[in-house]
Amino acid sequence: MSEEGLSNLMHEDRRFPPPPELAAHANVTAATYAEAEADVEAFWAQQARRISWETEPTQVLDWSNPPFAQWFADGRLNAAYNCLDRHVEAGLGDRVAFHFEGEPGDTRTITYADLASEVRQAANALTAIGVEAGDRVAIYLPMIPEAVVAMLACARIGAPHTVVFGGFSADALASRIQDCGVEVVITADGGFRRGKPSPLKPAVDAALESCPDVHHVLVVRRTEQETAMAEGRDLWWHEFVGGQATEHACEFFPAEHPLYIMYTSGSTGKPKGILHTTGGYLVGTAYTHWATFDLKPETDVFWTAADIGWVTGHSYLVYGPLANGATSVMYEGTPDTPHQGRWWELVDKYGVTILYCAPTAIRTFMKWGADIPERHDLSSLRLLGSVGEPINPEAYVWYRHHIGHDRTPVVDTWWQTETGMHMISPMPGVTVGKPGAAMTPVPGVKVEVVNDEGQPVGNGQGGYLTVTHPWPAMLRTLWGDDERYVDTYWSRFPGMYFAGDGAKKDEDGDIWFLGRVDDVMNVSGHRMSTTEIESALVSHPKVAEAAVVGATDPMTGQAVVAFVILRSEAGDGGPDVVQELRAHVAREIGAIAKPRQIMVVEELPKTRSGKIMRRLLRDIAENRELGDVTTLTDSSVMTLIQENLAASP
Ligand code: WT7
Repeated sequence: MSEEGLSNLMHEDRRFPPPPELAAHANVTAATYAEAEADVEAFWAQQARRISWETEPTQVLDWSNPPFAQWFADGRLNAAYNCLDRHVEAGLGDRVAFHFEGEPGDTRTITYADLASEVRQAANALTAIGVEAGDRVAIYLPMIPEAVVAMLACARIGAPHTVVFGGFSADALASRIQDCGVEVVITADGGFRRGKPSPLKPAVDAALESCPDVHHVLVVRRTEQETAMAEGRDLWWHEFVGGQATEHACEFFPAEHPLYIMYTSGSTGKPKGILHTTGGYLVGTAYTHWATFDLKPETDVFWTAADIGWVTGHSYLVYGPLANGATSVMYEGTPDTPHQGRWWELVDKYGVTILYCAPTAIRTFMKWGADIPERHDLSSLRLLGSVGEPINPEAYVWYRHHIGHDRTPVVDTWWQTETGMHMISPMPGVTVGKPGAAMTPVPGVKVEVVNDEGQPVGNGQGGYLTVTHPWPAMLRTLWGDDERYVDTYWSRFPGMYFAGDGAKKDEDGDIWFLGRVDDVMNVSGHRMSTTEIESALVSHPKVAEAAVVGATDPMTGQAVVAFVILRSEAGDGGPDVVQELRAHVAREIGAIAKPRQIMVVEELPKTRSGKIMRRLLRDIAENRELGDVTTLTDSSVMTLIQENLAASP
């Protein structure tokens, strides 16, 4: 966001105090902040009591080898036992864990007892095909209950899962499988999207051509599409898992046992495998799910409208809610299938009390019109959450008014795949909300906005967001690359975690996010790397060079805009070159990475040291006056690009 846009924002003077009724019974109060402030480690030791330990930890944080943290290191636990069995043992087996709604309208009501039993069967199935504690398992599934079952079955036997978003390509799946040495994949024939079945299994087959170590694939039958099954390798889930015993004695693991690896884009081409471990992650997600959403598990119906393939799905659709014994909604499909009121229909049908989604969805609903939610009864809602990118004040106010009917607080939660849990967010019973601001760190978290020298900035000033004290759900390292972990997060400001986000403190000291300060884009709340998309483009035979920027987009926050130089032997590339390149990016990475716009140019603006000046390209992509061009090797390049673009259709 530009400085000018920001100062407009910071003149935002609408304020929304907590509803008195909510504040009177709020989970988090001013006392919670005071308690965390007084002794942060004692505070986390207290939060660790939310979960059940086979061996209670006596240690809290071990920071003797920074930045490699250990939390609750001498404790032992099982994540799946915490999410399921213990609730069943406490007599809550009949509580609904998930109201599942498939896109075609099929539904399943899954209780804690049902889920526990399915997870035990799946754990037995994984063991039967040779998966042992420590082995990595890839999960490539649509948003169906088996995705949760698969994750928890892995957790139950101590096999870290790596869930790959179903929208990623075969190539992206293969590179993740190779990077963490996966030998077993769990997938489905397909899922339902936009009113039709969309196949998944063919992408697994293609990926496995370059992954010879994968010896088994479990295939969930969802769409009943014709599906090729490799003899001796592929097994139908309903036959193989369905045939297993529902008893399974669970093993307990040390708190620092790896729970999962989630790949995310960094500022270089290669995705980073973020490693989360068991005890601290479960404590951090259970606590924040309870705190930020003021969760009352007996009465709330919670809905995270995000895919399980992203960290939001991991922390607030699976681990946090289940650890808390909450009832959630899980929806397979798109918001406009079969009509644009589908979400609101679901809120009414299941009596959703807390809705958690991304600003890009809210802006889409704004575009579709307020009359659509108006046709549905949304009176069950008492709290609204936002995640993934800064929420524009107008979207915040629209969300609060048209969805929350001015009764519901809006919590804008800032966090990352790396942080595992909410870090900066209003607390709904305490914070006076400001549209557009993420506000203050959650109790137990310590952050600073710092300048280039790492000094904290004052109120009214901007800088970089850092976290100044370890937190339980923090990433432990990057899979197989401790050095990149240290370099990426802990080298820019010694002793502080560098998040990669620009932020500003307003006059009251509240925090506003300004977007990434590295070569990472945020498209619809999903992280995309400019370099990764550039590499994909350059791998096309017609492309010599490519530069990618994230341009402001009214719907998706940022959109991918690419500038390419063609190889001379490709001539003008032919009439379909742009379509060809977009399809190529979808094939290499996934449809979500497809550039909104590709501009074929003769040259790219570079500094004297040869670095592409993305800032200038962003100016063009956003139709702005060009910024400073004095460091360019040849400033006429920009005039050339602009003339070219003006002349092209
Ligand atoms: C990046 C993390 C957190 C789960 C989904 C995305 C941006 C995220 C907010 C917010 C401003 C936000 C940041 C962050 N971001 N939430 N509430 N306000 N920015 O996870 O893919 O790891 O991306 O998303 O830039 O660094 P992710």
